[in-house]
Amino acid sequence: MSLSIENLLGLEDVPQADINQIFDAAFSFREVLERPVKKVPTLKGTTVVNLFFEPSTRTKNSFALAEKRLSADTVNFSAASSSLQKGESLKDTIQNLCAMKIDLVVMRHPTPGSVKMLADFVNAVIINAGDGTHEHPTQALLDIMSLKEKFGQVQDLNVAIIGDIKHSRVALSNIYGLKTMGANVMLCAPPPFMPVSVEDLDVKVTYNVDEALEFADAVNVLRIQKERQASGLIPSLREYRNRFGITLERVASLQKPITILHPGPMNRQVEIDSAIADGENAIILDQVLNGVAVRMAVLFLLSGS
Ligand code: CP
Repeated sequence: MSLSIENLLGLEDVPQADINQIFDAAFSFREVLERPVKKVPTLKGTTVVNLFFEPSTRTKNSFALAEKRLSADTVNFSAASSSLQKGESLKDTIQNLCAMKIDLVVMRHPTPGSVKMLADFVNAVIINAGDGTHEHPTQALLDIMSLKEKFGQVQDLNVAIIGDIKHSRVALSNIYGLKTMGANVMLCAPPPFMPVSVEDLDVKVTYNVDEALEFADAVNVLRIQKERQASGLIPSLREYRNRFGITLERVASLQKPITILHPGPMNRQVEIDSAIADGENAIILDQVLNGVAVRMAVLFLLSGS
């Protein structure tokens, strides 16, 4: 079993066969996560360094758990207490870490393309845990795995991605991955949150949330990324909720069930009502569990074990 890719930098160029292989391994690892002893020796002797240059709850802890469940040795790098504070460059920092015989590097960084740069100068497997507004491939894999678990298959599924698409790495990786797996994708956002070159993405586009909900079997609701945008892009959060929020009233008025995903963290009562996020059609916590399994699968398959 091996993937055609050597690193996981994004989903743009990952073929369907690789994604299917990741899902097969991930569903096997899901079984491991249900056991009383949730640990296998698969990556014993393999060393992983986790480099997080941005805050994270889900991704950071999910990778940490995935590595522990696979019995890997791990190093958790803290930028705040490193020699980066003395002016050392990112390249020197990472080359020095990798000189200590690291096998895999998991990195989250605010700069789009930073993981690609890393892959060009270190001799280790690189996994992108989110690079700025560019890609977040393991998030999209766990989202699509959760859809596969819920619907049996992703081919021909109608998936709407609603929210701050322009500033979202989750959106771009989902668009690439969903299209590769044969889903129909619709984007919905107010104009300031729609990517400038949206027509290049070859997906359906609407500015009407009710049209997106009518279209969708499942919606992936994205948060407003206040930290990545200039202020004043939308009049107010209240206005945003009224026009684009996944509210109880909107969902209740649909004549069909609709599956709700959210990558987290959520702005409750802004892009999504709590009654929807915590409701019976939400699979948000299934996504989190599948995240550990998907990351175990990616680590295992890319390590060549
Ligand atoms: N979904 C996601 O990337 O969450 P974190 O920022 O908490 O890792």
